[in-house]
Amino acid sequence: MAVFALIPAAGMGKRMGASINKQYLLLDGMPILARTLEVFERSPLLDGIFVVIPADEIPFCREQVVERHGFSKVRSIVAGGAERQQSVLNGLRDMEGTVGEDDVVLIHDGVRPFVTEEILDRAVAVAREHDGALVAVPAKDTVKMVENGIITATPPRETLWLAQTPQAFRYGVIRAAHEVADAERFLGTDDAMLVERLGRQVRIVLGDYRNVKITTPEDMVLAEAFIKEKLQ
Ligand code: CTP
Ligand code: MG
Repeated sequence: MAVFALIPAAGMGKRMGASINKQYLLLDGMPILARTLEVFERSPLLDGIFVVIPADEIPFCREQVVERHGFSKVRSIVAGGAERQQSVLNGLRDMEGTVGEDDVVLIHDGVRPFVTEEILDRAVAVAREHDGALVAVPAKDTVKMVENGIITATPPRETLWLAQTPQAFRYGVIRAAHEVADAERFLGTDDAMLVERLGRQVRIVLGDYRNVKITTPEDMVLAEAFIKEKLQ
């Protein structure tokens, strides 16, 4: 059972509001996307990496991120779609022929550079034994359900986990779940949801509060602090 990564990085970074796509912003001199790919490149578990990028950024990404940093495990760079789910589906289709049905696929946001080798190891181990593995952390705040400004429910906090990535599955399972969602025009908010709705069991894997998705400008302030801590 080989292990592959699928990195969706085909968003526009609108909420960051930077002049370049957020994944090319530098963290201690290195683009966020390169920092993310580096973790997968270095992990001995990983056999190959597939990246999904906006169509017009593919040459830039290949030269400035993949070739420049010598990421030899990157097998393919394909164009994404309008939604993250479509980008992941494009990546899964691109894997056909290279990745076997029982191989493990780790789907990981290109803008989560603080993922660690330990998290990858834990996710792969669980994905081998279950229908899927979702890296998550326990909610620290109380979460309210709200409709029209009025609280309708307060789910018990100990039942709430915040989904991160990677989310890991056997290729056959996640490819089928994405194809079904696409055929039914169902749009989910993460990959696990597409597997859950087929009645399959996805297991939680403990992530890390540092494994943030860099989304808005304040996340860059956090990211700078995490990089400093890491380089100490
Ligand atoms: N993503 C993707 N294809 C899309 C949208 C998002 O591959 N059509 C990727 C992003 O590149 C990112 C990850 O999914 O690595 C998480 O998405 P998000 O943080 O929402 O990034 P963006 O969509 O780029 O940001 P925004 O929503 O602010 O525009
Ligand atoms: Mg987005």
